[in-house]
Amino acid sequence: MANTEIPIAEPKGKLGVMTVGLGAVATTMIAGVEAVRRKLGLPIGSMTQMGTIRLGKRTDKRVPKIKDFVPLASLDDLVFASWDLFTDNAYEAALKAGVLDSRLIEQLKDFLVTIKPMPAAFEQTRVKRLHPNNLKTGATKMDLAEQFMEDIRQFKKSSGADRLVMIWCGSTELYTQPHPVHDTLESLEEGLRNNSPDIPPSMIYAYAALKMGVPHANGAPHMTTDCPALTNLAIEKHIPICGKDFKSGQTFMKTLLAPGLKLKLLGLRGWFSTNILGNRDGEVLDDPASFKTKEVTKLSVLEHILQPELYPELYKDFYHVVRINYYPPRGDAKEGWDNIDIFGWLGYPMQIKINFLCRDSILAAPLVLDIVLFMDLAQRAGMRGVQEWLSFYFKGPMHAPEIYPEHDIFIQLMKLKNTLRWMRGEDLITHLGLEYYD
Ligand SMILES: NC(=O)c1ccc[n+]([C@@H]2O[C@H](COP(=O)([O-])OP(=O)(O)OC[C@H]3O[C@@H](n4cnc5c(N)ncnc54)[C@H](O)[C@@H]3O)[C@@H](O)[C@H]2O)c1
Repeated sequence: MANTEIPIAEPKGKLGVMTVGLGAVATTMIAGVEAVRRKLGLPIGSMTQMGTIRLGKRTDKRVPKIKDFVPLASLDDLVFASWDLFTDNAYEAALKAGVLDSRLIEQLKDFLVTIKPMPAAFEQTRVKRLHPNNLKTGATKMDLAEQFMEDIRQFKKSSGADRLVMIWCGSTELYTQPHPVHDTLESLEEGLRNNSPDIPPSMIYAYAALKMGVPHANGAPHMTTDCPALTNLAIEKHIPICGKDFKSGQTFMKTLLAPGLKLKLLGLRGWFSTNILGNRDGEVLDDPASFKTKEVTKLSVLEHILQPELYPELYKDFYHVVRINYYPPRGDAKEGWDNIDIFGWLGYPMQIKINFLCRDSILAAPLVLDIVLFMDLAQRAGMRGVQEWLSFYFKGPMHAPEIYPEHDIFIQLMKLKNTLRWMRGEDLITHLGLEYYD
């Protein structure tokens, strides 16, 4: 028995994608979209562009592409704007990031030079390794928030965008402790007016987005909308939010492997993960205070997947270490090593080694595109507040306060696809399958 279809407004007109940060990830996504539009490459890794979804029974043989099943904005309708600490336009920033081949960047130059970052909000104490030249000034944090709202209005007008999505692709900020100023909209607004030191720049952008009715996604691990003041604002104003921290490389591997160990009931004594990375993100994360924010999302994954409270003989007190070292010769081509000490039948030890020679921003760019397109879809479908169905994309998925986050990537994928089926009034797929044997 099919469900009722959710009314979804058609994606008419342009979708404005506003990235906070125009560094390696953002330029790789923006240049990549233009390269796909010019038929210079394929959107590999993007579920919205290449993924399919099974509908109905296996005998029905209905497996449309996701983009043909739900009304997503077309790549041709995307327009871009960014804020950054540096004045480099998207062409210059892409060359500096060194992710894409310079010949490809040259082919896209006429388009990329048109994306000039707007001045940013920044606090040196929160990202110690960067020294900006493109900053807003304002007496209070509320002044800055109002300037961001004006930037949003201006971009909407100048680009002719019908709808907008904001996504944080900026550097990881220092770890922010939850504070009473984050509790209610009133306390947050008071804090913005009084320059509360507990409101980081990322929250100022997010506040501006939500006040303007713009969905907000957070690709870094810091708190941003993951506080009652902003989550409640999103609910009140009927705006979707999601985060935190793109799940692209080593943690993606971890969320593939850890559910496998658990489903085979193999025990874990320790998991040691280390990385070398030479891009600007690596430089920022080389500062222990910035890395602490990242460490929290990277470490929490295994605890939640392995559920030591349910399987104490297998997973109690396993040792988990994650390290990132800045190593400039590698640029964006990160190398990650994992050493995993497991045990099986009667406690006999075994080891697994993973050596992932990846490209951070090549893995992250399609995630940014998918998140943006799904957030726009969610907005048009009237969904509001935390979009847990997008957990698939994040290392530290936001979730309702009364539940634990779901980190198992296979459950996350099922949740994502079932949400799309639910939107279109299709049967949810439970994999029970008894009907084939009746
Ligand atoms: N690449 C990945 O696979 C991956 C995975 C998970 C998370 N992330 C996160 O995504 C973010 C972007 O990564 P990246 O590799 O593009 O880093 P990057 O250093 O190349 O780019 C970040 C950009 O953000 C800008 N920036 C910093 N603070 C800002 C602010 N307050 N306002 C506006 N701009 C600001 C910087 O100037 C820089 O240009 C980082 O937080 C990173 O930790 C990346």
